[in-house]
Amino acid sequence: MSSTSDKIKLPPHASRTAEGLRDTGYQLPTAISDIIDNSIEAEAEEISIFFEQDFRGGLTLEIFDDGKGMSKEELLSAMRYGAERKDKKGNLGKFGLGLKTASTAFADKLTVISRKKSKDQLYTASWDLDHIRKVNDWEMTFRKSNDSEIKDFEKVLKGKGGTLVKWDKCHRIFSGELQDGLKDKKRLVNQTKKIQSHLSATFQRFLDAKDKRARNIIINLNGEAIPPWDPFVLREDKTQKAGRRKIKVEGLQGGPAELELTFYILPREEEFSSVESYQEAQVKPANQGIYVYRENRLIHGPDWLGLLSRDTHYQLCRVEMSFDHRLDEAFQVDIKKSQIILNQALDAEIQEFLRPRVREGNALSRQGERSGIKKTSEEAHKVSNKNIETKAKEVTQPEIIESSQTKNTATIENAKGKVHLKISVTASNDKNAVYVKPADSIVDGLLWRPTIISENIGVEINRNHPYYQKVYVPNLSKGVTIQGMDSLLWGLSVSELNCVEESTKRIFEDLRYDVSKKLRILTENLPDPS
Ligand SMILES: Nc1ncnc2c1ncn2[C@@H]1O[C@H](COP(=O)(O)OP(=O)(O)O)[C@@H](O)[C@H]1O
Ligand SMILES: [Mg+2]
Repeated sequence: MSSTSDKIKLPPHASRTAEGLRDTGYQLPTAISDIIDNSIEAEAEEISIFFEQDFRGGLTLEIFDDGKGMSKEELLSAMRYGAERKDKKGNLGKFGLGLKTASTAFADKLTVISRKKSKDQLYTASWDLDHIRKVNDWEMTFRKSNDSEIKDFEKVLKGKGGTLVKWDKCHRIFSGELQDGLKDKKRLVNQTKKIQSHLSATFQRFLDAKDKRARNIIINLNGEAIPPWDPFVLREDKTQKAGRRKIKVEGLQGGPAELELTFYILPREEEFSSVESYQEAQVKPANQGIYVYRENRLIHGPDWLGLLSRDTHYQLCRVEMSFDHRLDEAFQVDIKKSQIILNQALDAEIQEFLRPRVREGNALSRQGERSGIKKTSEEAHKVSNKNIETKAKEVTQPEIIESSQTKNTATIENAKGKVHLKISVTASNDKNAVYVKPADSIVDGLLWRPTIISENIGVEINRNHPYYQKVYVPNLSKGVTIQGMDSLLWGLSVSELNCVEESTKRIFEDLRYDVSKKLRILTENLPDPS
């Protein structure tokens, strides 16, 4: 058989292919970012997005840009699945699919209206999936724009060249039917916020006029300019630059290229200059990791690219990783540009850079946690003090005959008579009575001991005892539990002083020592507070 006669043409089934290409896993904000990539590539300076719902609940999305625009021929070629591309360095596009797949992932109808210059004829091109389904062919609308389209275009791009990308029949943005007007409004507001925060981070270097790495652009969302969001919080003096490394990648077709890593450790909450700045930084476990920038645009992250696992104590660690298009080959950037895969040699080198630095970030975070616990524990025991104060008079207590803060001694009188004790004596400057006092350490690693605080009999509780760490700390916000445990230890201390005599002083101390030791062992297997 001849080799040419067994070749036949088998074009894809139009309707099913178009349908299949909708499911490449886009999230709405990433899809919008892909449309914006095209605008940036077309050298737009201002991009305006309108995301709106009409009175019947129908959603539309419009993205206007004042970039180079397209001629009739260019527009036609742009609409093709697998559009031809003029290979230009730094292009964010790939495969000539972005415009179509990003749009149809959410809309049944994509319309593009464009012109190069103000005096040029406007052309309208649209793919309507309902039509493709009906005729099962790659048939689209392409014509001179009509009056309402011209009006729509001019609404934003008055007398300018540029492009309008419009999504209609956006049935896929919210799953399910639109019914409840109020609920829909909420969903719309939430979705708009998500888009806003995604774009602030993704195009940060373009949006920040002070950032010289990328050309400056403006992106408006429903009439409001989107501010840049800096994950590395460079505005704070206490942000640490914990290291920078350039890694040269060889063996690429276009010659060697460089990957740049910068490790930042964010300040702890109390080190931020203001509450607003702390909130703006969005310090939380989900925001740790590597932020990957390709050609100045955030394409991935934050995560640890599989090199480390996420840990609550790494939440102050954020790493900037930048490269340009020359590294695409090494990274296997996918259609959505949102996934990157490293090779093994790079893996090892990046890991070696990360490890010592996350350890530093980890230590700083734990330090912050300890000081945080200290603050919460002061607060937690205050509730117990109040509770004990209201009941203290009804509880049998020995009389304090004299006490000395300098010598830490006291003489008390209980039912058994007078007894002289070595006991910690302190004055409190709290205006409310203090009965329960957390301490950073107690001799012999005791969990608790009786104490005299401003002439009241109280209890000192050792914050560094494992029982405190593992049983108290996880419950600091639970008022009743803390009051219960505090009452028990306070009760034990008062009873000790009610019953103690010269001859039994040592026995009580030994008992506390023994119980504290046993609790140390019993709490060993309880989880660490996280
Ligand atoms: N906003 C725009 N302004 C000018 N040209 C555009 C715009 N959007 C798309 N194009 C043209 O359409 C082509 C196809 O876009 P797209 O489907 O996103 O694929 P890719 O970006 O991979 O080339 C682009 O290469 C560009 O020439
Ligand atoms: Mg594109």
